[in-house]
Amino acid sequence: MDWGMKNRLSKIINPENRRCVMLAVDHGYFLGPTDGLRVPRRTIRPLLPYADSLMVTRGVLRTSVSPDINTPIVLRASGGTSIIGEDLSNESIVTSIEEAIKLNVVCLALSIFIGSKYEHQSLHNLSRLVDMGEKYGIPVLAVTAVGKEMSRDSRYLGLACRIAAEIGAHVVKTYYCQNFEEVVEGCPVPVIIAGGKKLTHESEALQLAYDALHDGASGVDMGRNIWQSSHPVSMIKAVRSIVHSNANVQEAHEEFMKNSLIETRKEDAIESK
Ligand code: R5P
Repeated sequence: MDWGMKNRLSKIINPENRRCVMLAVDHGYFLGPTDGLRVPRRTIRPLLPYADSLMVTRGVLRTSVSPDINTPIVLRASGGTSIIGEDLSNESIVTSIEEAIKLNVVCLALSIFIGSKYEHQSLHNLSRLVDMGEKYGIPVLAVTAVGKEMSRDSRYLGLACRIAAEIGAHVVKTYYCQNFEEVVEGCPVPVIIAGGKKLTHESEALQLAYDALHDGASGVDMGRNIWQSSHPVSMIKAVRSIVHSNANVQEAHEEFMKNSLIETRKEDAIESK
């Protein structure tokens, strides 16, 4: 692996503890304006200081993120489908490597759809993106998208993660599941987890992060369970404490509760001005 590739990877996964907190805000690329992310700038700005990296599309990056930031950018490079379209798995690469370089991104991200109608196309997309990234020292994060008809078990997710790594992905994002350690064991590159749909209680999402790390994940690429929380800043801080400070779920949740009160007071103070 060349210097540039290693350097960029070290911006995503902290080389000291091999862990990461990636903030996912790319959902609009097929979901449109989603709750909690209707105005991307408003969602992203307060959370940025606590994210090791930001996963975003080029459109939101250009319009809603200041170019002055130091947060490394993971660029969502696949798309071309929508939640009301025929088949979400029918994705293409929608960003060029030149654009990624111009945007100074540290990683490219793309979804693969194992077992779907467009499985082959999505894997071909991955191989092309890896080739492009390898040429310029930009790593690729493969996202194992799971269709409604697929079961999120270790057999399926292990298969998807392994295939992504075999094709050349440098990091893989997947979902947490029972026997997750088998997924990690079978995947020769770092595995990080998505949060998935907003869970009812923040403690459930913290438990998810804790369990995934315990079972070998290198960190989280979390979106909705952070910015759909009643207290997003407090939530990302609590997630950080699990990932980077080895907090247990109870400690992280206590931190969340304490910071939530402060966050509410700050919001009240702004409103009363
Ligand atoms: C899918 O839309 C994206 O890849 C998201 O970045 C990913 O699902 C992580 O976000 P969440 O934690 O909301 O599932």
